[in-house]
Amino acid sequence: MPKVTFIADNKIVEAEAGELMREVCQRNDFTIPFGCENGVCGTCLISIKEGADHLTEPTNQEKETLDVIMAYPDQRLGCQCQVQGDVTFDLE
Ligand code: FES
Repeated sequence: MPKVTFIADNKIVEAEAGELMREVCQRNDFTIPFGCENGVCGTCLISIKEGADHLTEPTNQEKETLDVIMAYPDQRLGCQCQVQGDVTFDLE
């Protein structure tokens, strides 16, 4: 099972392969704010520190929002990406 590490909360949890990062965060009470849950508002912005290639490619909606909010290349929307392997992330 993929391991998901959230630096800000100092938590390491297991995820199902293909599980949405949002589901992992909510199931484990990670302190990530989720607003729309549809890739539009950008409140769930996270920075991937390790394992970026273990997340699904950004959807067109995610790409558009990341562009609008001028996200850095290592940032993703937690409500849009799916976990496919070990990932470490933080809020910034
Ligand atoms: S919760 Fe709105 S973009 Fe992720």
